[in-house]
Amino acid sequence: MNTQDVKELYKNYVLGNYAPENMCIVKGKGSRVWDIEGNEYLDFFPGWAVCGLGHCHPAVVSALRYQAGRLIHLPNNYHNLTQAMLAKEISENSFPAKVFFCNSGAEAIEAAIKFARRYGSEKKKFEIITTMNSFHGRTLAAATATGQPKYQKGFEPLPAGFKYAKFNDLDSLKALISDQTIAILFEPVQGEGGINIASKEYMQKVRKLCDEKGLLLILDEVQTGMGRTGKMFAYQHYGIEPDLMTLAKSLGGGVPIGALVVNNKIENVLVPGTHASTFGGNPLVTRAALSVFKTIKKQKLLKHVEEMSAYIAEKLKGLKEQYAVIKEIRICGLMVGIELTCEGRPYVERCIAKRLLINCTQGSVLRIIPAMVVTKKEIDKAFAILSEVFKELS
Ligand SMILES: Cc1ncc(COP(=O)(O)O)c(C=O)c1O
Repeated sequence: MNTQDVKELYKNYVLGNYAPENMCIVKGKGSRVWDIEGNEYLDFFPGWAVCGLGHCHPAVVSALRYQAGRLIHLPNNYHNLTQAMLAKEISENSFPAKVFFCNSGAEAIEAAIKFARRYGSEKKKFEIITTMNSFHGRTLAAATATGQPKYQKGFEPLPAGFKYAKFNDLDSLKALISDQTIAILFEPVQGEGGINIASKEYMQKVRKLCDEKGLLLILDEVQTGMGRTGKMFAYQHYGIEPDLMTLAKSLGGGVPIGALVVNNKIENVLVPGTHASTFGGNPLVTRAALSVFKTIKKQKLLKHVEEMSAYIAEKLKGLKEQYAVIKEIRICGLMVGIELTCEGRPYVERCIAKRLLINCTQGSVLRIIPAMVVTKKEIDKAFAILSEVFKELS
């Protein structure tokens, strides 16, 4: 089989809701992947931010091998050892909390929305204010929470009760609060929205506002969680705690898992019968997630993320000085956005041709989200390729 054969299978059998690149990746290790023809690529967007520990981290592989031979699935009508251990691990690394497990980011958001709705139901409060340029997933409710009309077009009628404030703008948020508002939901760093970082002042004022008005503060840490920003969870940069937090992406080291983390300060409204997931929190994925926490600590990855972030920031400074096409650099830990004054897609294509995988979002923002295990040598190599590409295209 080669890429062409796989493309043929896609044409005949895979629903066309994606536009995959002209390659078929069959193997990965750390920050490197190989295509079916054996070509090696440097992956600076591993797994769309899922592979925080890089591809096939040995600790995750070993946890999966162990658990696969023991118990893969267990429905939630039995006590599950690894689910309980993971909930404790999440709580001990964030705030005193209880956790609901599901299988993806959108499902975690869906659970947060259902939690908020039920929390407010007696007082007839149901409105959730999110932010423009946010991204919360593709289920109908998550796509409606997402403050970008392009993800909603053609799927109307959308669920009621969502309003969109300008990101990082307290006045815009305040203006939308009504007697029916129950929650405020946003990402500490908008990922798909172009690496837009919430300011400390904004975050703290929103927390205060939520306390004053009795609103739930829901932080979507699907992309920012699990060490990505240099803290285990991004909210820890801000000196506040959310009421609810959603996780997914790199939580499972590559396997599908999502979580809704509910602060113990908030009364639990998801009692038996109100919400569930068949696969949620199964032994295989929760064992993998436990190995992710263990590895982040054992390899001191939070410190490493800070160091690599500073190293990348220095390199980006050099690139920006050289190329006027770079409008702005935004970086938080290992979430990097390079905003261009032009379309970013040609840059992505040239990088891929030179065997570097990166992403472009919002049309003009090059997005780089390398694995947390990335090395200086790999960063040097990636920037050598980026420099060549900027030289060729600018
Ligand atoms: C911040 C954020 N929330 C939610 C989601 C949705 O996650 P999933 O694709 O796992 O449903 C994403 C996915 O990119 C995300 O970045």
